[in-house]
Amino acid sequence: MCGIIGCAGDDGDMVPTLLNGLAKLEYRGYDSTGLAVSGSDIRVVKREGDLDELVGTVDSEFDRGGAAGIGHTRWSTHGKPSDENAHPHTDCAGRVAVVHNGIIENYQLLRDELQSLGHEFESETDTEVVPHLIGHYLDTGLARKDAFRRAVEKLDGSYALAAVFDDHDEVMATKKDSSLVLGVGDGTYVASDVTALVGHTDTVVHLHDGEFAFLTEDGYTIVDESGTPQSKTGTEIEWDAESVTKGSHDHYMRKEIHEQSNALRECLRDRFSTGDSVSLDAIEDGYRPESVHLVACGTSYHAALYGAKLLRKRGIQAQAHLASEYALSPPPVRDGALVVGVTQSGETADTLSALRTATAEGARTLALTNVVDSTAARECDDALYIRSGPEISVAATKTFASQLVTLVLFALQSSGQTSDETERLVSALTELPEHVQRLLETTAAPTTARRFADSSGYFFIGRGVQYPVALEGALKMKEITYEHAEGFAAGELKHGPLALVTEDTPVFVSVVGDDETARKTVANAKEVKARGAPLVAVTDGVSSIDRFADEVLTIPRTNRTLAPILVNVQYQLLAYHTADHLGRDIDKPRNLAKSVTVE
Ligand code: AGP
Repeated sequence: MCGIIGCAGDDGDMVPTLLNGLAKLEYRGYDSTGLAVSGSDIRVVKREGDLDELVGTVDSEFDRGGAAGIGHTRWSTHGKPSDENAHPHTDCAGRVAVVHNGIIENYQLLRDELQSLGHEFESETDTEVVPHLIGHYLDTGLARKDAFRRAVEKLDGSYALAAVFDDHDEVMATKKDSSLVLGVGDGTYVASDVTALVGHTDTVVHLHDGEFAFLTEDGYTIVDESGTPQSKTGTEIEWDAESVTKGSHDHYMRKEIHEQSNALRECLRDRFSTGDSVSLDAIEDGYRPESVHLVACGTSYHAALYGAKLLRKRGIQAQAHLASEYALSPPPVRDGALVVGVTQSGETADTLSALRTATAEGARTLALTNVVDSTAARECDDALYIRSGPEISVAATKTFASQLVTLVLFALQSSGQTSDETERLVSALTELPEHVQRLLETTAAPTTARRFADSSGYFFIGRGVQYPVALEGALKMKEITYEHAEGFAAGELKHGPLALVTEDTPVFVSVVGDDETARKTVANAKEVKARGAPLVAVTDGVSSIDRFADEVLTIPRTNRTLAPILVNVQYQLLAYHTADHLGRDIDKPRNLAKSVTVE
């Protein structure tokens, strides 16, 4: 959701620093952007639309200067995208400016109270109560820090907040259920996530719920709710500055699709001990969960579905759950149950909430995540990293591949590793990065995408381990093309969805090998073809599907369990090239944001 950057002590050159931070955070929301810089009067500029709108305005209107500043990029929750609803918001007298990520649940009550005291509001947002509350406490004679803390005490809900004051070169920040990190480099920084600080500092410190941070050019101090100073150890940032740029690619999504073979190599590095056995630091050798619940959202949920299938195949009771539904009727947690939060960002509110429910029920929890020291990683009993490197595009690509591979490793380690199938799987895993690379060099997906780019809808079907990637293929397509796309288990079409299939709705089917599952899928594909739909097969060429499909996208032959990863690369490319052909804003699809930190 919304992105926050704050900086103190940048030699009066605050605006470029804030704009640079916002550029790295824009994937958290792009409905509007804004910034505020301290000085004898706080200067605020904000605009509806993405960062380019703000950059134009800042150049022409904004008086640079001041040694403390805050910036914000918004994903709207309360109030439409507009200049008025853009952050930062100020109090009536313009003494304090505030940026916020999260939701203030009691904002209406606070707003009514403040209005009855004479405060006038300019926006429809929940956030605007915060500067007015701070202003109210300044009016009562409290010093700035005390006014900030007293105002925060009144808030219910989730928040990451940063504020600057007039005549005062300090940034104040606090959080509850929404992440904030601090770092010191050429200035003192606070940001929603590590990505914004890459290139500024090598080490970050995570602020905990209820803590307050005060940033000046000399560094920061942190106090807890009672005002007691806290000392903390930093976490090293492993990502380099290059990894958060587009490089030579037109879009982050394309760059990240092409980074997949390296991401998988990194995911597998040092995770095999002697011979063919898997050894994951996060899980003690010999640990066998009685049952596993995987909780996740969106793309990560599709990875969870795949993980659950793998675990069940290896004799472990396992179920994937949509995180947003989990807390409403949590399945009984028995002794020996493990709840795995599959979350790229480690900050998704629905997933965190499901994990907290599981913890309260007494389950052991594991975060399967990309971001070191993310909230999920810190709150769970253990963290298993997928090691993809930063993913900026809103559409998840390389992280999905790394999630699947990490789930394979997890399934191998937690289910005993003695079968022939294990040996075959481990050997296929080591070849997988090469296969991905070869596929990327030889794919015909751009041509196929152009051929079908003006279709009225898209269907993706698959059976068994291919079913989660049918769902993921459809999600990727709808997310970045804005066209209707649905994924189905191949056997389900005849139970209803077949009614939607026409000559104008290509059906993408993945068929790998020539076993019973493949043959049943081929039969389902024939049913589609008989009803006039164009059929695109994604296949390793072993079955008979390529004899009657209208188009074939080939994947290298590999172990059937791993084939969905290759199929999915073709689906990612199809979605990417279709969106490109349609002229969509690929890295910033409408209405979406990467890190969804509200429930
Ligand atoms: C993926 O393309 C989506 N943008 C989205 O579904 C995402 O996977 C979901 O919001 C979960 O995010 P997480 O993995 O960071 O928890």
